[in-house]
Amino acid sequence: MHLALSRFTIANDMAEPMRQAFMKRPHHVDQAPGFIRMEVASPVDQPREFWLLTYWESAEHFESWHRSHAFHDSHQGIPKGLKLVPKSTEIRIFEIITE
Ligand code: HEM
Repeated sequence: MHLALSRFTIANDMAEPMRQAFMKRPHHVDQAPGFIRMEVASPVDQPREFWLLTYWESAEHFESWHRSHAFHDSHQGIPKGLKLVPKSTEIRIFEIITE
């Protein structure tokens, strides 16, 4: 199992609409081949920062979802007017060694 950890920071006052958008997420990704589950987290000392944890059967499954249209479909609901802190987006892939 592999974990894709994506993080980014919102530059303006949109953290609350962002949380709402995640709670109402479209669930397209749930049908993607190799998808296992997802969590969305935000550090208690920095509520404008978001961490997306998606778990996949393999890193290749994540990469093909990320390249595909499904990625765009999953981002239709990004709140309007949202601005990101430049260069705050980072993605790293982890191998899960044990649970
Ligand atoms: C950089 C790598 C990123 C990955 C891997 C990623 C992954 C995902 C996934 C898996 C979902 C759930 C979709 C679903 O339920 O079908 C999602 C939803 C969402 N993402 Fe991202 N995301 C990334 C970047 C971003 C960025 C930079 C933003 C902000 C501009 C963002 C904003 C959102 C929002 C608001 C939702 C929920 C609303 C919606 O799905 O339309 N994501 N993302």
